[in-house]
Amino acid sequence: MAQEIFDKVNSILADIQAASPSSAEDIEQFRIKYLGAKNILKPLFGEIRNIPNERKKEFGQLVNTVKQTAEDKLQALNNQVAQENETAEANALDMTAPGEPLNMGSRHPVSIIMNRIIETFSRIGFTVAEDREIEDDWHNFTALNTPADHPARDMQDTYYLLNDTERLLRTHTSSVQVRTMENQKPPIRSIFPGRVYRNETISARAHCQFHQVEGLYIDENVSFADLKQTIEYFAKEIFGHKTKIRLRPSFFPFTEPSAEVDISCFICGGEGCNVCKYTSWVEIGGCGMVDPNVLENCGIDSQKYTGFAFGMGVERIAMLKYRINDIRLLFENDIRFLNQFQSAL
Ligand code: PHE
Repeated sequence: MAQEIFDKVNSILADIQAASPSSAEDIEQFRIKYLGAKNILKPLFGEIRNIPNERKKEFGQLVNTVKQTAEDKLQALNNQVAQENETAEANALDMTAPGEPLNMGSRHPVSIIMNRIIETFSRIGFTVAEDREIEDDWHNFTALNTPADHPARDMQDTYYLLNDTERLLRTHTSSVQVRTMENQKPPIRSIFPGRVYRNETISARAHCQFHQVEGLYIDENVSFADLKQTIEYFAKEIFGHKTKIRLRPSFFPFTEPSAEVDISCFICGGEGCNVCKYTSWVEIGGCGMVDPNVLENCGIDSQKYTGFAFGMGVERIAMLKYRINDIRLLFENDIRFLNQFQSAL
C-alpha cells in the first residue's frame, strides 16, 4: 500500500521531469496541474496517514522534492520564454533600415535679410552696435529733436511702461545712434539693427513690432553726396545691379535735409506692376543729414562735424524680396511658411 503511493509520487516526478511545454498556454497548464490551487500533489498529502511511521519522513521529503522540481521547471520555462521574446524583439529591429531624418531648421526670412544688410555695410567699413529695447524718453525722442510737444511724436506712438512715462519701447533704433554719439568720438561709422515697436493696429501691412537697420556716419566734411553714394551701393547690393535710387524730399525731426529712399521696382524693372502700384518706384526707408541740434545734444561739435543717417524696415525689404503679401506671416512661426526660406547666410 505504502509502496503504491510512493510509486505514484515517483511517477508524477518523472512526468514533471519529462514535461516540455513550449507555448505560453501549455506552460500555464503545467503550472495549474502541478502548482495551482487544486494541483495534483495536494491529495498526496492526505495519503500521509497511510504511510508507516518509519517512512513518513522519506515520503515528506519526496513530496517536497516533487513540488520543488515543478517550481524549478516552471521558473526555467518562464525564463526561456522571456529570453525568446527578447530575441524576437531584437530580430524585429532592422539595423540596416535608414534612420529617422533629422529635422533641419532654416533661418527666418527677417534674419536672412538682416544678416545680408549687416554684411553689405560691413564691407564698406560700418561696425554694428546694439542696445536696449526699453528706452528712456531722451534717447528715443528728445535728443532726436523731438521734444514732448512735438507733433512728429504722433507718427511714432508707442507702448509706455506702467506708471512710468519716462520709459517706453523704442520706436526706432535711432536711440542707439544717440547712445553711440554720446559715448564715442567721431569718426563714427556704424549700423544699428534691432527690434522696434509702435502702437499700430495690426494689419497685412503694419505690425506693432518689426525690425530696423539704421546707419550713421559722422566725420569732418561728410556730405549729402556721401549719403547718396552709400544708399546707392546698398540698393544695388541687395536688389541687383540694375537698381536705381530716388531720394524724395521729406521730413524727419532729426535730419535736415531729409529724404525718403525709393528704389526702382526690381520686379517689373520700371514697367509698372502691383508691387510698385504702377509707379515704378518702391519706398524702402528714410535718410538725411544729421540735424546740428542732434549732434549738439549728443556732445558733438556741429561746427566741426557733419554726418548722415538712414533707416529702413527689415520686414518691408523681406516682403519685397520674397513677395510676401502679409507682414503677419513673419510673426506667426508657422514652419510650413518658414521652411521655404533657405539661405547660407
Ligand atoms: N528713425 C526713422 C524712422 O524710424 C528712420 C530714419 C533714420 C530716417 C535716420 C532718417 C534718418 O522712421
